[in-house]
Amino acid sequence: MAEYTPSQLLALVNGNQVSAGDERVRAITARIVSDLFQTIETFQVTPNEFWSAMKWLTRLGQADMVGLVTAGLGFDRLLDILEEEADEAAARAQGTPRAIEGPLYVAGAPVSQREVRLDEGNEGKGETLVMEGRVLGLDGKPVPHASVDVWHCNELGRYSHFDPEQPAYNLRRRIETDAEGNYRFRSFLPPGYAIPPNSPVSDLFAQLGRHGNRPAHIHFLVSGSGKRALTTQVNIPGDTFLDDDFAFATRDGLVVSLERIERSDAYSSLGVTGSFTHVRFDFVLQDAITDSEAVAASRYDTTHA
Ligand SMILES: [Fe+2]
Repeated sequence: MAEYTPSQLLALVNGNQVSAGDERVRAITARIVSDLFQTIETFQVTPNEFWSAMKWLTRLGQADMVGLVTAGLGFDRLLDILEEEADEAAARAQGTPRAIEGPLYVAGAPVSQREVRLDEGNEGKGETLVMEGRVLGLDGKPVPHASVDVWHCNELGRYSHFDPEQPAYNLRRRIETDAEGNYRFRSFLPPGYAIPPNSPVSDLFAQLGRHGNRPAHIHFLVSGSGKRALTTQVNIPGDTFLDDDFAFATRDGLVVSLERIERSDAYSSLGVTGSFTHVRFDFVLQDAITDSEAVAASRYDTTHA
């Protein structure tokens, strides 16, 4: 007998097994398939609409833009919210707020001790920025020899590695702090940016009536011995989209204060001669309660999950 109602078909899809499989994967897949069956029935989705959507998914994968859609549909922020709810339930104090990694991190950036010129090769591309601070524990004590991975977009809002016009690791560095947890770097104030036009993501957002703009920000992945690795971003104040971020990633505790310094000899090792914008920001890390929490892993590195 091979004549099915939708519910009979769903029961077969979710229940027809020749081996045990993975219980969790089975349960989650069954739920998703069940919800999609219901969505198709409720909205009377036509074959044309269904196959257009499948074609869009294929284009999305081919363009390597899955990570952009997850951010725009709120999934990245949701995972951060749930992590913080879990912390709260476990009575774990928060350090510096988390913010989404985004899809554009690249591991293996050149390493420097205590300070670096992140803008090497990008002179004159924007307002000179010096950002500095310390990596601290929740107790306020410095985390010696912590690692501060920092990356931001270029003056056109594009990231090296994903933009073939830029040299490898352009605007990507890793700083190892000194024994007092100090880091500092020179760069330029990056602009905000938008999702690529004429892409599967912009097609969807046009249909949703949503914009695809992110306010200006700088990404960080911070870790230190015995501390929970932190993925976050800081936001530059004054951006039009600060409270209307496509990726829902801006947070109150992450908007930095900009200070104008006309001249200072304290930054001559970074080649700063004239006036510049200065930002001071300390990263506060939670204590790690498992070894895997201390690993500075990208979200696509699931070996430590
Ligand atoms: Fe970004």
